[in-house]
This record gives sequence, structure tokens and C-alpha cells, in this order.
Amino acid sequence: MRVGVLTGGGDCPGLNAVIRGIVRKGVQEYGYDFVGFRDGWRGPLEGDTVRLDIPAVRGILPRGGTILGSSRTNPLKADDGIRRIKANLAKLDVQALVVIGGEDTLGVAARLSGEYGVPCVGVPKTIDNDLAATDYTFGFDTAVNIATEAIDRLHTTAESHMRVLVVEVMGRHAGWIALHSGLAGGANVILIPEQRFDIEQVCDWVTSRFRASYAPIVVVAEGAVPKDGDMVLKDRSLDSFGHVRLSGVGEWLAKEIEKRTGKEARTTVLGHVQRGGTPSAFDRWLATRFGLHAIDCVHDGDFGTMVALRATDIVRVPLAEATARLKTVDPGLYQEIGVFFG
Ligand code: F6P
Repeated sequence: MRVGVLTGGGDCPGLNAVIRGIVRKGVQEYGYDFVGFRDGWRGPLEGDTVRLDIPAVRGILPRGGTILGSSRTNPLKADDGIRRIKANLAKLDVQALVVIGGEDTLGVAARLSGEYGVPCVGVPKTIDNDLAATDYTFGFDTAVNIATEAIDRLHTTAESHMRVLVVEVMGRHAGWIALHSGLAGGANVILIPEQRFDIEQVCDWVTSRFRASYAPIVVVAEGAVPKDGDMVLKDRSLDSFGHVRLSGVGEWLAKEIEKRTGKEARTTVLGHVQRGGTPSAFDRWLATRFGLHAIDCVHDGDFGTMVALRATDIVRVPLAEATARLKTVDPGLYQEIGVFFG
């Protein structure tokens, strides 16, 4: 059997570990051969392939990024996309596809599998950890470690100058990275997209921190939004879900804090640093297990499924269900962490 593999959407540490797991087990145990598709769905759409065999996956376990390349190409929006994918798979004699991606990439796999008879198995990935069907996605742990290290470093420079340090982390719709790194890094304020924040309350927390002779660290997820009325109209935009967004929330916060408290504030935007570089040991472990189980799904002919982590077990869930709902931070959990604010 010949199996195609692709990685789509934003890259994330651990993608190469999944690819290695799939290929190693597929070749050694099942005698499969593989075709790598370049740049997500663009590969099967255009028939753009890369060699994928045991030598190709040697040494890639600790490497960040993806040896296959990635893109956000959506074949359902391309002219004649489904027919072109089916024709390319037939021409290359590819009988199954392992699709490694987030919500959008796996959403396409769910439809191709469910509605158009393309046999797909999904593997979830995103640093945002916002896919509901799995307890954790690989990439998240690495991103949290990077953000935590940054917060640790920012504490010392904040203390030296007695300034407010605002750290903007990734997370458009879910505040998991902010919550975990903020707690691990001892932040004094954590702001997430799930809960609109009150800038006056943030300033009170900042001021009370200074009163206790500490310099405050404010961790904010990029998708966090102030309460209506705190933003002026020019600050607003709408995201792809139609939700109100404030672009550059980190910079906005630092300016508002300075204006309202009279304290000096600076912003650090971590951006893609959180997505680059070598995966943590946990992410290598999870990604490898996802790869091994994904190729088992192919071997069992269990298509239209996605592998997922439940406690310490890897389970199979329907792809359609896996992409139906985002996992956001529960208000109860946010409240629990709130004891450290201010
Ligand atoms: O991978 C998800 C994510 O990291 C989001 O948190 C972030 O908003 C987005 O990707 C950035 O994507 P891009 O690399 O396309 O700018």
C-alpha cells in the first residue's frame, strides 16, 4: 500500500516526530511505502511530492518545523479542487492519506473523507491546544515552555527598572498558552480571549503589585479584548469568526497602563518564537505516539478518524466530531488562577 502524508496550517514543534513515527512503523511493520506531499493541501492539489522513506526521516525527531512544508491552502475553495486531488492520488497510486493539521486542515480531511470518499486519517496539531477532541495537542508544551522562560527573564528586567512588562503570547480564540505560561511564570495578571477584561481592574492589580514593591508582569493572549467602552472605535476589527478584535493588544495595554497609572510600561510580543525550534520531550513523546497510532488506523482501514489523547491513552475519534468545536478556557479554571492576580 502507498500512503500519502501532509502537514497543513501553521507549523508547530513535533510535526517531524509524527512523520517519523508514521514512516518508521509503516515501513518496518506494515511494509508500506510513502509519498510526502509538499505544503499542506497544495501538494495533493498540484501533485507536488517529496521522497518520504526511512533515510528521509533519519535525524528529524528533534527538529522543529516540518520537512514537508506547510500552507493554509484550502482545496475546497480551489477551482475543481476535489477532482484534482482525486486525480493526483490515483495517478500516484496513493490509497490513503494521513493529514496532520489543526482545525482548518482537518476540517478539509473530514469533508474529503465523509463526502467525497478520500480515505483520510487525521492527526491533531496546534500550539494553541484548542481542539476539543484531544486533551493535548503537541506543540503546546513547547510553546508554554518558551513563553515561561521569557516571563522568567522579563521579571528581572522589570524589577531592575520597576516597570510594568506586558507579554503578548499567541492564542486568537483560546487562552491556554497565556494561562499555563502565566501561571508557571508567576504573572500578576493573565488576560485571555474567553473573558473580556476591564482595563481599570487591570490597572488596580498593577498598582497593588507596585505597592507590594514588585514590578508587575501582565500576560495577554493576542485575542484578548477589553470590555466595550474601553476601546475606541479605531482600535476594533473583526476576526474570521466575526468576533471583535483589538490588533496589537499588548501595545495597547502598555499605553493604557502608563496613561492610567503613571507607571512606565513596555511590551514584548513573543510571536512566532513560540512556534519555532526544537520540540520539548513531552511533545516528541506525544507526536511520536500520534504517528504510530495514525498508521495503525490506516492499517485497520479506519478512515474518517483522528487520533487523540485521553488521559494517557491514544484513542480514535470521528474526524467530523474532532473539528466541530473549539476547546476554550473554562471560566471556573480562570477564576481559580485569579487568586494570583494583583
Ligand atoms: O498556530 C496557531 C497560531 O499560532 C495562532 O495562535 C496565531 O494567531 C496564528 O497561528 C499565527 O499564524 P500565522 O503564522 O499565519 O501568522
